[in-house]
Amino acid sequence: MPAAGMGVRLGPGGPKALRLLRGEPLLVHAVRRVAAAPSVGCIVVAAPPDAVSDVEALLAPITSGPAGVVVVAGGATRQASVALALAAVPASFDIVLVHDAARALTPPGLVEDVASAVRGGHGAVIPVLPVVDTIKRVDSSGAVLGTVDRSSLRAVQTPQGFRRDVLAKAHEAAVDDHTDDAGLAERIGVAVHTVAGAEAALKITRPFDLAIAELLLS
Ligand code: C5P
Repeated sequence: MPAAGMGVRLGPGGPKALRLLRGEPLLVHAVRRVAAAPSVGCIVVAAPPDAVSDVEALLAPITSGPAGVVVVAGGATRQASVALALAAVPASFDIVLVHDAARALTPPGLVEDVASAVRGGHGAVIPVLPVVDTIKRVDSSGAVLGTVDRSSLRAVQTPQGFRRDVLAKAHEAAVDDHTDDAGLAERIGVAVHTVAGAEAALKITRPFDLAIAELLLS
């Protein structure tokens, strides 16, 4: 679980994963839901490097159940944080899901859906939602260049699930920074399977998203 981002788009207030939602850090909400998915046997969190011991203390009470937790220092980019966390996943696990702490309200059922699609034989699996807005391409001056057919477009969420060897190879082969792990798998020619995403798995990026998340919990 990459959780080392600074959350600049959320405004001032420290690392995003540690911002409060109904009195608890986003990371706590996210880990609690992932830990509730029966398939999950271990959660590795990439924390802000100066907050590793704070995050360990924060997560100890909610991960004393069946799913163990490991906290490592994250990197300068999301991709680096995922690679550092992946290196700390115990060797006994051959399926790995990558999940943004920022998607704090992701239902455990979505985690299960992704895990079970990987167990079913797909090397890479992503949850997606249809795109509801009309999408235009524009040039640097803002002039419209064209309208994109949205029927074939999907908005991508996490958790993204992988056979461990696929994810490891995808990260080894990475030459530039990607905003998702399935993008790295595509680059090495792996077929990526989609499953239905969940509205509640929204990514909390801007203050408006935090307000929506507060409402969802109320
Ligand atoms: O910045 P963005 O919202 O795309 O980040 C997605 C996820 O990646 C967040 O959970 C964030 O904490 C994490 N991240 C990270 N290390 C970074 C940057 C982002 O773990 N250097």
